[in-house]
Amino acid sequence: MLSEGWRHGQSPSQLSVEWTNQVQKLFLDGTGEEYFIGSIQSLPVPDWNGNFMLFDSDDCNQDSMRGLLWTTPFKENTVRIVSFVLDAGARGKGWGSLAWNLMAEQLRPLGYDVVQLEVRASNEGAISFYRKRGLEIVQELHGYYRQGLGYMMRGQLRQYHPNNDTPKD
Ligand SMILES: CC(C)(COP(=O)(O)OP(=O)(O)OC[C@H]1O[C@@H](n2cnc3c(N)ncnc32)[C@H](O)[C@@H]1OP(=O)(O)O)[C@@H](O)C(=O)NCCC(=O)NCCS
Repeated sequence: MLSEGWRHGQSPSQLSVEWTNQVQKLFLDGTGEEYFIGSIQSLPVPDWNGNFMLFDSDDCNQDSMRGLLWTTPFKENTVRIVSFVLDAGARGKGWGSLAWNLMAEQLRPLGYDVVQLEVRASNEGAISFYRKRGLEIVQELHGYYRQGLGYMMRGQLRQYHPNNDTPKD
């Protein structure tokens, strides 16, 4: 049975204009970054198991898309997160955590055990999300973002289940 949830996601080059417009809205809302249609479609993300889209219903159409996780094989054992964004209304409910675990579940069997990404230094929420999942800041990025400092973060690609650490009485 399908309902709200993450599904395999199209890659940027597969997106129709309608889909690309919706992704553009998600990026603008999620990151404040204005992407051009062409720059979305040419993001370096292949069509593979590391792409996910969140839908709020059984209809997997662009109007019910609420989130996106796009990754790319980067080095032999390293996967790079290219885009990870949820609609404002979908945040803070565990959907991001679920996507993270799906990514680890899909990509570890393919030999990827390291994950790396770029994040704005001002994005404390995302940095805390990644730290909890074992990533560390490995480099400062000057000039990567149009404005402000960026960080490169890297760590082991693993599922994270915080509730497993909680003692039950
Ligand atoms: C970052 C993001 C993908 C996380 O997904 P999410 O579904 O909101 O996260 P979850 O609900 O699974 O939260 C898990 C943890 O993330 C952390 N977190 C997420 N957003 C946070 C925020 N704004 N402030 C503080 N902590 C935050 C919390 O530590 C939370 O831990 P908890 O469960 O102990 O409270 C999502 O918030 C998002 O799309 N943000 C806007 C776009 C963005 O910043 N993308 C990352 C760019 S690199």
